[in-house]
Amino acid sequence: MVRRSAVAGTGAYLPVRVLTNNDLARMVDTSDEWIVQRTGIRERHIAADGEMTSDLALAAAGKALGAAGLGAGAVDVIVLATATPDETFPATATRVQAGLGITRGAAFDVQAVCSGFIYALNVADNFIRLGQADTALVIGAETFSRILDWKDRGTCVLFGDGAGAVVLRAHEGNGSSGDRGILCSRLHSDGRQHDLLYTDGGPSSTGLAGHVRMHGREVFRHAVENLAAVVDEALGAAGVTADDIDWLVPHQANLRILEGTRKRLRLPLEKVVVTIERHANTSAASIPLALAEAAGDGRIRAGQLVLLEAMGGGFTWAASVVRW
Ligand code: ACO
Repeated sequence: MVRRSAVAGTGAYLPVRVLTNNDLARMVDTSDEWIVQRTGIRERHIAADGEMTSDLALAAAGKALGAAGLGAGAVDVIVLATATPDETFPATATRVQAGLGITRGAAFDVQAVCSGFIYALNVADNFIRLGQADTALVIGAETFSRILDWKDRGTCVLFGDGAGAVVLRAHEGNGSSGDRGILCSRLHSDGRQHDLLYTDGGPSSTGLAGHVRMHGREVFRHAVENLAAVVDEALGAAGVTADDIDWLVPHQANLRILEGTRKRLRLPLEKVVVTIERHANTSAASIPLALAEAAGDGRIRAGQLVLLEAMGGGFTWAASVVRW
C-alpha cells in the first residue's frame, strides 16, 4: 500500500470590500479597458482596516474543516503560505492555530510568493507521506493590498486580498495514478531573477515591509516558459498526460499567462478554473481560492484529475497533479 495525501475539504474567504477597475481609474492613470485587455481583471477584494492575513486565513480554514467534516482537534500540522504575514514573527500559521483553539502539532509559514500554495501543499504532503501527520491544514492567505505602491499603476491594478484552505488526510492506495491524493509535485526556484519581481524592503534591509516592484513584461516571458516546463515535468512524473486532465487550476496572475498554459496543453477553456476577473492576483491564495470555488459548486468531483501550476517572485515555480 502507498500512503498519499487526499483532499478532504476546501474553504475560501474574501474580504467584503470590492475595488473595481473604475475605482482604480480614479486613483491612478489607468482604465477599465486597459486592465481587462492586458490582464482579464475586473475587480478585486481589499481587506478592511485592521483585517489581517491571519483573519482571512482563519475564516478559510474554518470552512475547509467544515467541508471535511472535521474538528480543529484533528489537525496535526498547519502550513500557511504567505508573503504578507501579520508580523515579521511569529508565523501567521501560529495565529491561525490559536484562532482554531488548538495547541497540538506544528504550525509554520512557507514563503514562495505566488507559488507558495504549491510549496506548502508539497511540504504538508511530505509530512503525511512520511507518517509524521495524518491530517494537514494547508492555507494560502494574502493581504497584498498592504505592500502595493498605490501610485504605481504598473502593479497596483494587478493584486487583491483573500485566503483559501485545503484539508489533506492520509489515504492508502495501490500506488497507481488512479489513487486519490497528490500524485506528485515539482518545485523550482532561480534566485538570479530577484530584480524582476521583489519588494523594496524587509526586516533585514530597510526595516519596513516595502512595496512590490516588478518588470511585468520580463516576468510574463519567464512565466510562460517556466510553467510550460514544470507542467510537463509534473505530468510525466505522475504518469499521466494532458489528455487525462479534468481541471487545470492555475495561479491567477494574468489571463494571458493562464491561456498560454491552457493552449499548450490543448485543453478546452471549460476545463480551466478562472477567477482572475473577480479576485485579481491574490498570490499564494489564488489556487486554493479557485479550488474552493470549483469544488464548492460541484465542478471538481471525486476521482477527477486536477493540475495545479504557479509562478512567483524569486523566481519560484511549481506544479502538482492531484487525484480529487
Ligand atoms: N494602465 C494603463 N497603462 C499602463 C498601466 C495601467 N495600469 N500599467 C502600465 N501601463 C503602461 C506602461 O506605462 C506602458 O506605457 P508606455 O508604452 O507609454 O511606456 C504601457 O502600458 C505598456 O506597459 P507594459 O508593462 O509593457 O505592458 P504589458 O503589455 O507587458 O502589460 C502587465 C503589463 C499586465 C503587467 C504584464 O506585463 C503582465 O501581466 N506581466 C506578468 C505580471 C505578473 O503576472 N506578475 C505577477 C507574478 S506572480 C508574483 O509572484 C507576484
